[in-house]
Amino acid sequence: MRVVIEAAAELHRLAARHIARTLRAKPACVLGLATGRTMIPLYDELVRLHEAEGLSFATVTAFTLDEYVGVAPRAAGSFGRFLHERLVARTDLRAGALHLPDVLRTDLAEAARDYEAEIRAAGGIDLQLLGLGVNGHLGFNEPGSSLGSRTRVKTLSEETLAANRADLPSAAGERRLAITVGLGTILEARAVLWIATGAAKAAAVAAAVEGPVTASVPASVLQLHPEVTAYVDEAAAEGLARRRYYVEAEALQRRLEGC
Ligand code: GLP
Repeated sequence: MRVVIEAAAELHRLAARHIARTLRAKPACVLGLATGRTMIPLYDELVRLHEAEGLSFATVTAFTLDEYVGVAPRAAGSFGRFLHERLVARTDLRAGALHLPDVLRTDLAEAARDYEAEIRAAGGIDLQLLGLGVNGHLGFNEPGSSLGSRTRVKTLSEETLAANRADLPSAAGERRLAITVGLGTILEARAVLWIATGAAKAAAVAAAVEGPVTASVPASVLQLHPEVTAYVDEAAAEGLARRRYYVEAEALQRRLEGC
């Protein structure tokens, strides 16, 4: 895992540049998109690159990482609405190119299987963007999730409901269910860009990066992926025992890459 530790503003700039490199190398790439407050400044920076440098999403296919069950695609607080407002409305990403799991279907297990099949049919995910839950979750893969899990229905934990309370669509609170891309599915992405900011994430970051690989910390599964870049701000890096090493290694790596 490549661990990049920077102040928040620089971190979002670097992460957005990373995404821009992927888009320029493969304009018809498949992106896995995450939601959450962490992603807001990153998407703002992508919008800035779109406006200032002509970064184009016109031929991109995108898959939302997760969505609350029973919530309409553009309902207030839905992840679909988040991505429409933050990216589709502000870039040339086509609304039809943004896929969402069908969380309104009666047969949710079938909806999850179909979503997984859609990802496969698109050729798989080239770059999966991920945030991190305070409890170590990825998407809505809550602690205890199988490390080999596929896209499926998950029950939201109390911790997650509390952390998301401010933006939670009302139907989501009642049903406590979501469809999330699985951890095994995430491991199949060709590359992963993972971002965590703020002191509240420090314990989860340390457990995920330096702890044992365990279903109790779903993000620790990223240790098994060969192409992960973790963008961590200084507050979220606070619990990392090898912090100094990561900073030194990153400086050398950048010199090797000539940037
Ligand atoms: C949400 C999402 C995750 C996200 C996480 C952290 O519930 N399902 O994909 O990474 O929680 O959100 P935030 O960035 O707001 O802390």
